[in-house]
Amino acid sequence: MIEVRPRSPVMGAEVRGVDLSVRLNQDSFGEILDAFHRHMLLVFPDQHIDEAQQVAFSRRFGELQIHVLEQYRHPRHPEIYVLSNVDAATGRTTGTHPDKGTLVWHSDLSFVPRPALATALYGIEVPDTGGDTLYADMCAAYDALDEDTKKLLAKMKAVHDINVSRIRAGEAPMSERQRAEAPPVEHPAVRTHPATGRKALYVSRHASHVAGMPRAESDALLARLQAHATSGRFVYRHRWRSRDLVIWDNRCTMHCATPYDPGAERRVMHRTVVKGDSPYN
Ligand code: SIN
Repeated sequence: MIEVRPRSPVMGAEVRGVDLSVRLNQDSFGEILDAFHRHMLLVFPDQHIDEAQQVAFSRRFGELQIHVLEQYRHPRHPEIYVLSNVDAATGRTTGTHPDKGTLVWHSDLSFVPRPALATALYGIEVPDTGGDTLYADMCAAYDALDEDTKKLLAKMKAVHDINVSRIRAGEAPMSERQRAEAPPVEHPAVRTHPATGRKALYVSRHASHVAGMPRAESDALLARLQAHATSGRFVYRHRWRSRDLVIWDNRCTMHCATPYDPGAERRVMHRTVVKGDSPYN
């Protein structure tokens, strides 16, 4: 029997009684999808799955994305984005964080025309200290805005650009080819969730600026919205246990990884991303 228990007062639920290594029947998957829409994030503890099984489970939610940054793709399963500080050849830690872009608040793939619906992250090796992931409930953050700000945002679009956000996070700029494949895109600053009908704030660190707004004003507004949405009352902290699979809804959440010591601790995560629709207000 599938058991779904809320994980925190903010968002998220833990799902027990499911083995993700086997294909779920339609009824069981329906229960999971329903819980996903209600809780925004689901934790499946103690899952023993291989790459093909993670891909198969993620595909139940929709078509999978192959990331533009090919350096992170799994060699045999390109749908898997490997976030690891362990050198595959030596088995030792590299001493560097594999992707500093994950350390800033973002919603996956907001920099493409059809951003991510869901992301599934599987913790294969997780640190004893640090390396948690924080999640913000962007529907609650929107609901709590004052009416003037809601009016201001109603028609506003933000420009999302992964190259800008990676440079800001301290990563190397993307190659010319990668830039050409992922040019900046505009999305509404507030989007309507297609399944629940709720409105969600849709700005994050991938948003370089507000379209048509003077830069200083845009920077101040984005910083204000970011500070609002990431205040403790909207945030769930996921403390990883090895073999947790966490799947979250990018249409109504944003997330960021927290730092860990990449020389002393091992962190190996496999990520799959499900494509969504174009956001609308
Ligand atoms: C991500 O940003 O998609 C990954 C987050 C993490 O590594 O905790």
